[in-house]
Amino acid sequence: MEKLSGKKTAISVFISGRGSNLKSLIKFSKIKKSSFKIKLVVSNNKNAAGLKYAIKNRINFLVINYKNKSKAEKKILKTLKKKKIKLICLAGFMKILSKNFIKEFKFKIINIHPSLLPKYKGLNTHKRVLENNEKFTGCTVHFVTSRLDSGKIIFQRKMKILKNDTEQKLAKRLIKIENKIYPLAVKKILKFNL
Ligand code: GRF
Repeated sequence: MEKLSGKKTAISVFISGRGSNLKSLIKFSKIKKSSFKIKLVVSNNKNAAGLKYAIKNRINFLVINYKNKSKAEKKILKTLKKKKIKLICLAGFMKILSKNFIKEFKFKIINIHPSLLPKYKGLNTHKRVLENNEKFTGCTVHFVTSRLDSGKIIFQRKMKILKNDTEQKLAKRLIKIENKIYPLAVKKILKFNL
């Protein structure tokens, strides 16, 4: 992966909602020694709460209408290229990227998922984890491939499930861990790819 002239790799973060992972990536990117800079935030949802972090931090953002997926992806790709983005971080982005899009950014798209992949791919992970009486859950940062939540794992962290845990309690505790590991995972892959 190429570096920007200022030595930092240009990355883009894709969101659809709250944006706590975006917030944490922004915070980390501002550390002097950080190896990346967020140059673009993409959202398919104009009401995504997370957009406020882009605004507050003066990061360019693109809100994209996904009614026509192929048109939407073309527009995103054009902007990513214009901004010389080298890595895409999906952070609660609720749209599935097409095979063609993924091909354009092969091994350069990563995602964070709230389970110990390969277990519990897809949605409603906390509900399913509790139903199955698991003792542990966790979160995973992985490469994005055309198979949902199935790409190579970059970083994973385990979390114990407590006796009185509910979906909400699990989500609340786990998101804090997610927010910690996502920047670390980005740092890790940039080190290996450079
Ligand atoms: C996180 O739980 C992430 O693992 C999942 O979507 C959620 C996004 O949260 N893919 P946020 O918008 O980053 O706060």
